[in-house]
Order: sequence, then C-alpha cells, then structure tokens
Amino acid sequence: MMINPIQLFDTESSTYTYILAAPGSTEAVLIDPVERHLERDLLHLERLGLKLAYVLETHAHADHVTSAGKLRERTGAKAAVPSGCGIAPAELQLKDGDVLTFGNGERIEALHTPGHTAGSTSYVWRGNVFTGDTLLIDGCGRTDFQSGSADALYDSVTRKLFALPDDTRVWPGHDYKEQSVSTIGWEKRHNARLANRSREAFIQLMGELKLPKPRLIDVAVPANQNLGLPHGG
Ligand code: FE2
Repeated sequence: MMINPIQLFDTESSTYTYILAAPGSTEAVLIDPVERHLERDLLHLERLGLKLAYVLETHAHADHVTSAGKLRERTGAKAAVPSGCGIAPAELQLKDGDVLTFGNGERIEALHTPGHTAGSTSYVWRGNVFTGDTLLIDGCGRTDFQSGSADALYDSVTRKLFALPDDTRVWPGHDYKEQSVSTIGWEKRHNARLANRSREAFIQLMGELKLPKPRLIDVAVPANQNLGLPHGG
C-alpha cells in the first residue's frame, strides 16, 4: 500500500524533515530533524499518538543542526545514522543494505549513496526513497566538501537510485525551488544535472559550480557528529 510520509520544512535552511508512520501503527521514525523545530516535531508525534522509535540522519549536515540528540532524550528513541558519517554517539551505525524495522513490521532499507558526503545514505520505505542531499528534485547536492565526490555521486544516483522502480517517490533533503516530491522515473528523464549526462560532463559541471562555503559548516558538522548536543555535555 502506498503511504506518504509527513513532510515538514525549515525555511531557514530549506531542509525537509520527514515523519514515517503506517496507518494503525503506534510507532514512527523521523528523518533529518532540525534543532529549531524540536517542539513542532514533538507536537506532531503527540497529536498523532505516535511513539518515536528511531531518529535517522541521511548524513552529517553542514547547513543546520540536528535535534536527534534532544529527540532521543525526550522520547527514548534510538538514533540510527550512516556508519561513514562520524556520528559516534548513535546507537545504530547503518551500512549499505541494513534494514531497520519499526511499528507493525515496517521496514526501512539503508542504501549507501556516497558523493555529497562519503557516508551519505538514502532510505527506502514502502515505495518512497529519502535521498538526503544525494538526489534533489531537478538537482543534486554539492560534492566539494566533507569528502564529497562528483564521481561517487554519479554512481550513487545512476546505478543505485535510478535502479529503483520508476514509480518510487523521491523525497529530498532540501528544496530550493518550491517542489516537494518527485519520482525516480521523472528524475531519470528530467533531472537538470543528471538526466542523460555522461560521467565526464557531470564531473566537469560539478567542478565549475564555485559555490560559497556553507555559512554554518564549522559549527554544524561537529555538532551533528554529536547528534546536535554540545560536546562533553
Ligand atoms: Fe548536506
């Protein structure tokens, strides 16, 4: 059965947060929560009568601080993160192909999709894929910091994500163009950076972007590697 996640947005960093819950289930999973929306997210869970089982990260973000650590404290949820992201305090370090279960037999599969960062991971649940900053709607995440690699991102998208069924819904980690959901089939045909582009042309394109350094990177990455909690605290 097709089920959409609940999609929530942070206007400051253009970050999407997702709540995953199946009908009739009393458990939920949160993906990529943002620190300043801790209370909003808790209110959603309370309103829906959901107990938070896991809080997931797609990578160690450079543009906002996660609320994963605080959510864990407030709800008793476990933190599950990609193993290659240096997020040491998380209970679960996920590798490619690992499956997380919650609620009444709900399964989330981890797909290691490096390129934006070396550890970046996408999550597949009920015909939905949560792509973090690997694949965006009509775009992709930058590959010029945090051990990013345009070469690796090309493989992650064209060989792993584009290998999912065409009707898989794509829920990105960010959106800057006021779009909220796409599909694998659509992105295969129309993604401005990746559709019908050779590896060489993609690597050249990514190398020529010359984006400014993320304003919060030096604060956000170390904080996120501690689940958003102060170090030593
Ligand atoms: Fe990112």
